[in-house]
Amino acid sequence: MQESNNLSGGVANSPSGDGGVVVSLIVAASSNNAIGRNNQLLWHLPIDLKFFKNTTWAMPVIMGRKTFESVNNKPLLGRQNIIISRNAQPSTDGKVWWANSLEQAIEQSATLDCNEIFIVGGAQIYEQSMSIAHRIYMTRVHAHFEADTFFPEIKVGEWDMIKSNDFPVDEKHAYSFSIQVWEKKK
Ligand SMILES: NC(=O)c1ccc[n+]([C@@H]2O[C@H](COP(=O)([O-])OP(=O)(O)OC[C@H]3O[C@@H](n4cnc5c(N)ncnc54)[C@H](OP(=O)(O)O)[C@@H]3O)[C@@H](O)[C@H]2O)c1
Repeated sequence: MQESNNLSGGVANSPSGDGGVVVSLIVAASSNNAIGRNNQLLWHLPIDLKFFKNTTWAMPVIMGRKTFESVNNKPLLGRQNIIISRNAQPSTDGKVWWANSLEQAIEQSATLDCNEIFIVGGAQIYEQSMSIAHRIYMTRVHAHFEADTFFPEIKVGEWDMIKSNDFPVDEKHAYSFSIQVWEKKK
């Protein structure tokens, strides 16, 4: 079993195809695409948390205002956080930038020296970004959950799964899961 983040290390650099920045979604979803309930996550999977941190480290992360609230309005360390809201706040401390649309958030990210931008949720923001995303890092949790927020269906006609690593139930992980990488068909 692998704990490290060699999934992202092994993927091609620029599925954007034009040498431009790669727009990636990163998500953990159950077999019925559940991602959250009452503005909280549905499971605690330390390997997945480590994968998320390693994959997004030092990169811009874009999230909806509700997801930001779900982490107590605390920015993710070591990453430029960009929060999308129709009531965008002044960006005073530099740790968090606010944007009033997905497009503006991506423009802000593109001013940073990075080759990949991460859209980290929640459901509203994933839904709006599926059409522009090049890559999806999907942790598929092999269980069914009651939820109030869901990830959009990944249409197999539009996306190829290029990697998948399986992780079993153990003392720290109540559910088995697979960490997958999907890329949009050219
Ligand atoms: N499992 C996972 O990987 C994962 C990852 C992230 C989040 N989650 C879960 O997802 C849930 C939150 O998702 P959600 O869908 O309720 O909320 P969300 O997508 O995090 O945020 C929604 C908010 O984003 C803003 N927004 C959305 N579209 C916009 C647009 N076009 N222009 C400007 N602002 C826009 C609005 O903020 P204003 O209302 O301020 O205008 C809206 O209320 C939580 O349960 C969280 O735990 C799960």
